[in-house]
Amino acid sequence: MTTVGVDIGGTKIAAGVVSEEGKLLESTQWPTDPTSPEVIEDGIVSAVQNFARTYDIEAVGVAACGFVGADRSTVRFAGNVAWRDHPLGQILSERLSLPVVVENDANAAGWAEFQFGAGREVSDMVMMTIGTGLGGAIIVNGKLVRGAFGGAGEIGHMVAVPFGHYCGCGHEGCLEMYASGTALTRAARSREISEPTYMGGVRTYAGDRSKLRGQDVTQAASDGDEAGLELVSHLGYWVGRGAASLAAVLDPELIVIGGGVSRAGDVLLEPARRSFKENLFAMENRPLAPLVISTFENDGGMIGAGDLARRD
Ligand code: BGC
Ligand code: NA
Ligand code: ZN
Repeated sequence: MTTVGVDIGGTKIAAGVVSEEGKLLESTQWPTDPTSPEVIEDGIVSAVQNFARTYDIEAVGVAACGFVGADRSTVRFAGNVAWRDHPLGQILSERLSLPVVVENDANAAGWAEFQFGAGREVSDMVMMTIGTGLGGAIIVNGKLVRGAFGGAGEIGHMVAVPFGHYCGCGHEGCLEMYASGTALTRAARSREISEPTYMGGVRTYAGDRSKLRGQDVTQAASDGDEAGLELVSHLGYWVGRGAASLAAVLDPELIVIGGGVSRAGDVLLEPARRSFKENLFAMENRPLAPLVISTFENDGGMIGAGDLARRD
C-alpha cells in the first residue's frame, strides 16, 4: 500500500505518491500562498484526491515548514507561512477521510536521508535543509529527535550574529538569515544597490532588483557566474559555521546538506567544509564528520513524510 507525502515549504508545495521502499511513484508541485492556510489545504486536498484515482492511498504524511506540536497535527508557529496553533493534520484528515501525520519539513527530509539516502549507513546524523528557510533534522542513535514539545532541531533559529538581520521568527541574527534562500535573496538585492552591473549574470535580474531571487542566484552560481559564486560561497561559509556548532553539541557521524540551495553542489560544499573545519571544536583531535549533499534533493520532504505516515 502507498502513502502520499506532501511537503509545504515557504515558496512551493510538493505532493507525491511514496512506495514502501521510499520510491516516489508520481509527484506534482505548485506555489505556496503563505498568507492562506485554507488555500494551502485546498491544494493538498485536490492533489491527494487526484492521486487516489490511480493509487490505493492508506495515509498522508505532511511535512510542514514550522514548529509542529507533539500531537503531530498542529502547526504551532511558522516564520514563513501564516500558521499559528493551526490544526493542519486534523483539518486534512477530516477533509480527506484518511489518517494524516504532520511532521516538521526538515525532520521529514532528514528521515528520508536516514532511511533511504545519504544517511542509511549511519545511526547519528544531522541534516541541514537550505530552502526559503534553514531547517534541521537530528537523528540520534537511530531515532528522530523531536524534543519534549515537538520543536527540536530548529537550527535556523540559533543566533549566529547578535543583533543581526531580523528573521521571519521575529528575532534578530538567526542563522537562517545568513544560510538560506532568503539570505541569498537579501544579499543579492543589497549587492545590486552598490554594483548593479555585477548582478547581470543572474537570469531574472534584467535591471530590476526586486526580481533577484535566491534560486536564480544559486542557478547563476552553478552556471559559473562570478556574482552567483561569491554569494553562494559566502552562504557556504555560514553553513559550515552552523555545522561546527551542531557538531559541538551533537557529535554526528555525518552532516547532510539538502534543500534547493544544495543544488549548487561543490560551490556550496567546498566553503562549507572549510569553515566547518576551521570552526570545529577540538578540530585536530577528533574525527571529521563528512559534509555531503543529500540524495533526494527537493524530494526528501515528500519521501520522509510519506514514510513516517506509514510508521506510527
Ligand atoms: C522553520 C523550520 C523549517 C525551516 C525549513 C524554518 O524557518 O522554522 O521549522 O524546518 O524553516 O523550511
Ligand atoms: Na526540524
Ligand atoms: Zn529566526
